[in-house]
Amino acid sequence: MLKLLRRLSPREWLMAAVSTVFIVLQVFLDLRLPDYMRDITTLLQTPGSEMSDILVAGGKMLACTLGSFASSILVGYLAAKIAAGFSRRLRQSVFDKVSSFSLGEINLFSTPSLITRSTNDITQVQLIIALGLQIMIKAPILAVWAIFKIAGKSWQWTTATGVALVFLLIMVSIIILLALPRFRKIQTLTDSLNRISRENLTGLRVVRAYNAEAYQQKKFSVANLNLTNNNLFTTRIMAIIMPCMTIIMNGLTLSVYWIGAALIDAASMTDKIGLFSNMLVFTSYAMQVVMAFMMLTMIFIMFPRASVSAKRIGEVLSTDVKVKDGSGVTVPQSLVGQVEFKNVCFKYPQAEDYVIRNVSFTANKGETVAFIGSTGCGKSTLINLIPRFYDATEGEVLVDGIDVRQYTQKQLRSKLGYIPQRSVLFTGTVSENVAFGDSGKGEYSPEAIKNAIRIAQSTDFVEQMSEGYDSPISQGGTNVSGGQKQRLCIARAVCRDPEIFIFDDSFSALDYKTDRNLRTALSHELAGTTCLIVAQRIGTIRDADKIVVLEQGEVVGIGTHRELMKSCEVYREIALSQLSEEELINE
Ligand SMILES: Nc1ncnc2c1ncn2[C@@H]1O[C@H](COP(=O)(O)OP(=O)(O)OP(=O)(O)O)[C@@H](O)[C@H]1O
Ligand SMILES: [Mg+2]
Repeated sequence: MLKLLRRLSPREWLMAAVSTVFIVLQVFLDLRLPDYMRDITTLLQTPGSEMSDILVAGGKMLACTLGSFASSILVGYLAAKIAAGFSRRLRQSVFDKVSSFSLGEINLFSTPSLITRSTNDITQVQLIIALGLQIMIKAPILAVWAIFKIAGKSWQWTTATGVALVFLLIMVSIIILLALPRFRKIQTLTDSLNRISRENLTGLRVVRAYNAEAYQQKKFSVANLNLTNNNLFTTRIMAIIMPCMTIIMNGLTLSVYWIGAALIDAASMTDKIGLFSNMLVFTSYAMQVVMAFMMLTMIFIMFPRASVSAKRIGEVLSTDVKVKDGSGVTVPQSLVGQVEFKNVCFKYPQAEDYVIRNVSFTANKGETVAFIGSTGCGKSTLINLIPRFYDATEGEVLVDGIDVRQYTQKQLRSKLGYIPQRSVLFTGTVSENVAFGDSGKGEYSPEAIKNAIRIAQSTDFVEQMSEGYDSPISQGGTNVSGGQKQRLCIARAVCRDPEIFIFDDSFSALDYKTDRNLRTALSHELAGTTCLIVAQRIGTIRDADKIVVLEQGEVVGIGTHRELMKSCEVYREIALSQLSEEELINE
């Protein structure tokens, strides 16, 4: 929590200081009230006192109250401003940090937890800052000041107040001990609730198709019930506080009066009036002391929850990002568009076994290099090393002859046109999706966007959409077909005009004709651009300059289609399973 508070700006510290001044003023004014009250009671009891004197004292009381009211509004305003500004910046920092995470760190935290951390957790911290500024500073000042005022009035009364405070402290300690562990749990339970809702919404079609609503509902209601029970427990405990407080406060007043009655009874006639007004004043101060402790209790109750949240936010902010920017490089012109793997091995963080073993190959400028192999053999993993979604565990990945770790991530990725295995589109229009991101070459012109769409064989369906290039795409691209989505993703990569294309099984949802047209268009219009293609269909990669055959993360053959048909058993099996011997020989 304290670590997070270091992020407050000097201006916010200044505002906090100003609000402290106003809190002191407020406490001062509040504590003046009993004094005036004593004056009024004394005046009332003194024969011959003037109405105007009483009115003056009453007027001063009113002024104090209004002053205190105004200060408390000001303090509330400042506190809200500080808390809101602070949490806005905190949210931004968390977002920026999460954006810089590599997939390894994101998997470590899990997406739902990252969402809770950047929303719910920050709200908790914001709440405690807003309240804390008002109460945490006020309560101790009020307590000390009020105790100071009543000290030395009468030991009997002071003892009564002391006893009340001891009761109060015992009660607060019990409550905190009971509630604290639950608060820790609430945040993790919120994470899991988030996860289940998210999973349910993203997998809605599957849930419906498999009649799994009841199953999902059960999962949700278990998590929901868990959270509710925890919330209920803590709220119930809190609910006890108020009545207990009232009992303690009223008990205190009662005992002060009781003691007062005995004292007055025993006093001489002349002391009676003084004692009576003292008693009234004492009660008011004693109430203020109890109030101050009550406020502290509230903080003690809210603080644990906020500090759990602060810790969770701190964890995100202090996580070391594994994929770090290199120092930046100037690329020798002669090697532009080259990709080389040198004895690359890779295993996923937290995994035992290597997924990629000793892979070496070179893709020269303008070449098409294809990767083929059974599912799960590590094709996606292999090409994900090029944009540094992960870093190779051993060996080197070179782009344009330079290790990818030496580039800044921006520099590296602006060279690449990456089309993921699972097509991803964003909320926006077709054009916005195609002109997505920044390739460091300036804004995309409408002609460039149209051209990219044409090369990706999408002109027909885009122009048939209701608003053409400005037709809306919904989140995740659910309003276009799988193949259309894939083509728009290809158009997005083409639009960047990259040095190197990386297609991760990006032709799988296309029919054979479109697949062929697209590849022809790419090779004609973008000759000179290196293409790395992962594919399952022999037809897609038959014309590649080089085919890399993978099996269980290892290269078992590299060569052209013809060479591999002769030399590589694995490749021949794949080929024969898709095409007849005749077709293959006719090649
Ligand atoms: N994030 C991950 N953490 C741990 N292991 C993973 C992760 N992603 C993939 N793997 C494992 O790595 C292996 C290779 O996966 P990869 O996605 O590279 O296969 P692929 O060849 O692309 O398969 P496909 O043809 O089905 O796309 C798989 O056995 C998989 O279990
Ligand atoms: Mg894959």
